Amino acid sequence: MARKKITVVGAGNVGATTAQIAAMRNLGDIVLLDIVQGLAEGKALDISQAGGVYAFEGSVTGTMNWQTAAGSDIVIVTSGIPRKPGMSRDDLVEKNTEIVKSVSQSIAKFCPEAFVIVVCNPLDAMVYAAAKTTCFPHSRILGMAGALDAARYALFIANELGVSVADVRAVLMGGHGDDMVPLPRYTSVAGIPVVELVEKEALERIIERTRKGGIEIVTLLGYSAYYAPAAGAVRMAEAILLDSKARMSCCAWCDREYGVGGAFVGVPVILGAGGVERIIELDLNEQERAALTESVGHVKQLMVKVDAILAS
Ligand code: NAI
Ligand code: 2OP
Repeated sequence: MARKKITVVGAGNVGATTAQIAAMRNLGDIVLLDIVQGLAEGKALDISQAGGVYAFEGSVTGTMNWQTAAGSDIVIVTSGIPRKPGMSRDDLVEKNTEIVKSVSQSIAKFCPEAFVIVVCNPLDAMVYAAAKTTCFPHSRILGMAGALDAARYALFIANELGVSVADVRAVLMGGHGDDMVPLPRYTSVAGIPVVELVEKEALERIIERTRKGGIEIVTLLGYSAYYAPAAGAVRMAEAILLDSKARMSCCAWCDREYGVGGAFVGVPVILGAGGVERIIELDLNEQERAALTESVGHVKQLMVKVDAILAS
C-alpha cells in the first residue's frame, strides 16, 4: 500500500514537533513547509537524521514550495503567530486570518482531497477561516484543541489521584479559550465518575487550571506550548489515517448539534477515514448548556471578525 503523505505547514515550534512525532510514529511521508528560507529544510533534515537512529519508514522533506505538498492526504496547519505573555489568543485574529487564508488557498489548489487539521489560534475562528477559504466539506476540516485541553485535564486529575493518565477519560467541549467547558459529569477514572473520586474544591481547581493551561505555559516559557499541542495534532491525523474511529474532542462544524446554529466549536466526535464521521451529542444539564452557549457566543463574535478580514 502506498504510504500516506502528511504536510505540516509552519516549521516553528508546533510544526516541527508535529513533523517529528508523525515521523516517529511512522504515519507516512512528511512534508514540512515554511516561508522562511532554510527553516523547514533544516528542521526536516535534522528530523530525518533521527530516522538514522530510529529507522522511520517514511521520508521527511522540508520545503518552501507548495508543489512538494501536492496530493497530501492530510495537511496540518500550524503557520500562525503564537501569543506572548500578556496576549490573549483573540489578539492573534487579524494576522493569523491572513496567514490561514493564504495557506488555505494553497491547500485548495495543491491538496484538494486532503483532510485539514488547523492548529493556529484563535483556534475555532481559524478553522472557520480555513473552511470558508477552501470550501471543503465540513467533515474534512477540523481543529486541534480538545485533544490538548482534555490531555491537560486528564493529567491534572491523574496527578491528583495518583493514578495512570491512561485510566482517565476526560471530556470537555466548547471553544479553545478560558471559557471552554470541562464536563466532570462525563469524566471518569477507570469507569468511575470523577465527581465520586475528587473533592469538589479540588476538581474546581483542576478545571480552572485546565482552562488556563495555555497561559500557564506562556507565563513560564515566554512563548506558547508545543510538545502537547503537536501530540494532539498527530493523534488526530493518526485516527483519520488508521480509520480508528477514535472518540475525542475536536473542533468540528456544528449546526443543529447542541443547538450551535453554525459554528466550528469543540465537541466530542468520532474520527475515522471519513474525518469527522459523527458528532456525539451528550445530554447536557442546564448549567453545562449555558456554559456551552456562552463559549459558542464568543466563537461567533470572532467569526464576524474573520468574515470582515476575509472580505477585505
Ligand atoms: P512559531 O512562531 O514557532 O511557528 C509558526 C511558523 O509559521 C513560523 O516558522 C512561520 O515562519 C510560519 N509561517 C508563517 N506564515 C506562513 C505561511 N504563510 N506559510 C508557511 N509557514 C508560515 O509558532 P508556534 O509556537 O509553532 O505556534 C503556531 C500556531 O499554533 C500559533 O498560532 C499558536 O497560537 C497556535 N497554537 C495552537 C494550539 C492549540 O491548542 N490549538 C497550541 C499551541 C499553539
Ligand atoms: C495552548 O493552549 C497556546 O492555545 C495554546 O497552549
